[in-house]
Amino acid sequence: MTDQSSNQMWGGRFAAGPDAIMEAINASIGFDQRMAAQDIAGSRAHAAMLAATGVITDNDAEAIREGLLTVLSEIESGTFEFSTALEDIHMNVEARLKEIIGEPAGRLHTGRSRNDQVATDFKLWVRDQLDAAESGLLALIGALLTQAEAGADWVMPGFTHLQTAQPVTWGHHMMAYVEMFGRDLSRVRDARARMNESPLGAAALAGTSFPIDREMTAKALGFDRPAANSLDAVSDRDFALEFLSVASICAVHLSRFAEELVIWSSAQFRFVTLSDRFSTGSSIMPQKKNPDAAELIRAKVGRIFGANTALMIVMKGLPLAYSKDMQEDKEQVFDAADNWMLALAAMEGMVKDMSANRDSLAAAAGSGFSTATDLADWLVRVLKVPFRDAHHVTGTLVAMAESRGCDLPDLSLDDMQSVHAGITGDIFTVLGVENSVSSRMSYGGTAPAQVRAQVARWKEILG
Ligand code: ARG
Repeated sequence: MTDQSSNQMWGGRFAAGPDAIMEAINASIGFDQRMAAQDIAGSRAHAAMLAATGVITDNDAEAIREGLLTVLSEIESGTFEFSTALEDIHMNVEARLKEIIGEPAGRLHTGRSRNDQVATDFKLWVRDQLDAAESGLLALIGALLTQAEAGADWVMPGFTHLQTAQPVTWGHHMMAYVEMFGRDLSRVRDARARMNESPLGAAALAGTSFPIDREMTAKALGFDRPAANSLDAVSDRDFALEFLSVASICAVHLSRFAEELVIWSSAQFRFVTLSDRFSTGSSIMPQKKNPDAAELIRAKVGRIFGANTALMIVMKGLPLAYSKDMQEDKEQVFDAADNWMLALAAMEGMVKDMSANRDSLAAAAGSGFSTATDLADWLVRVLKVPFRDAHHVTGTLVAMAESRGCDLPDLSLDDMQSVHAGITGDIFTVLGVENSVSSRMSYGGTAPAQVRAQVARWKEILG
């Protein structure tokens, strides 16, 4: 489709075409074709603006805008032939436009460069992904709220160091992740608001002498305003770095939850049953039901971090303005975005489908001396024992129970009084896990009433 001897877009001063290796290292069409829709939207806005400001005629603008729609439909229907010789999506689209509409196609690139064009396309692409991440996070939070509401008063062990610490409620544990994903949601929204400035019209780096209207193209593309410095506009990739940073933090949260699901679904814990729809079997061990989705979500953090690190290093030390190094931004972001969205969707599916095993949770909640702190607190509250001494008394009682192979509520009042004479039969009321959790009424605590209040707060926030 093209003359391969020298590039038709910039080949004027070149006598020979590029070496095959040069073409291979230079071309980005293999991946940046994912930005075709954004590229065409940007060019359509630019053409309309060039006509409105009198830089090109209305007729030419109309031909360009219509022709671009034809190109888009060819790309969408899969009939478009991408050419490596034409390097990237920008030149592939423009060359095809020229084949379709002829001479007016050559006027599209007035007052514009591929440098502001690629920055615009990429921003539009990343912005779409931030919107997708917002939807994915909202769906996941919704699924967690449903779990939390159903199990606001189901007791389970709370852990520190993965050792039984104090009883908590299932709803409380689910709501901890709502808080995390809620912060991710707010980071996504912040990033979107900050990045929403249009680079279009910054041209190569210095702006242009044509009387362009950057407000007009910014508005047409849904940007809040044009970026205020043309050098910065073409060399800024903060928006991609921020996208990857936000994705990385969210991926950490996803991986922590995924790890808990892996542990909880094991035969040793049996805290949850994952649905068949989000599990796989083993080809050799018939009894197995593996939490593969959770494991893969746990692993996705690796490549998302990798993308973040890679682009940070690509951008580090780059002088202003555009350098071809920046072409290395896209594959990292594309891969991270695809895997982030997939991980969010898989986590939402797992959370929606999983069932908490209330009995196993309750049985585990009462083991491991989980109400030892309640005993110590009772000594402080009722007998006015200083907390440090109460801690010591309780520790002695735990050691006694441990040596007899029983739990704290199984000790007799005599046993208790042998360690601290002031203890009365009332102590037994605080050793039950139900009492323990419902007593934790401090704001943000694990009491079912607190959990229900947090569920209600989030439902109100999400509207
Ligand atoms: N394919 C290029 C990229 O992704 C487009 C910009 C090229 N600009 C240039 N001055 N060579 O960065």
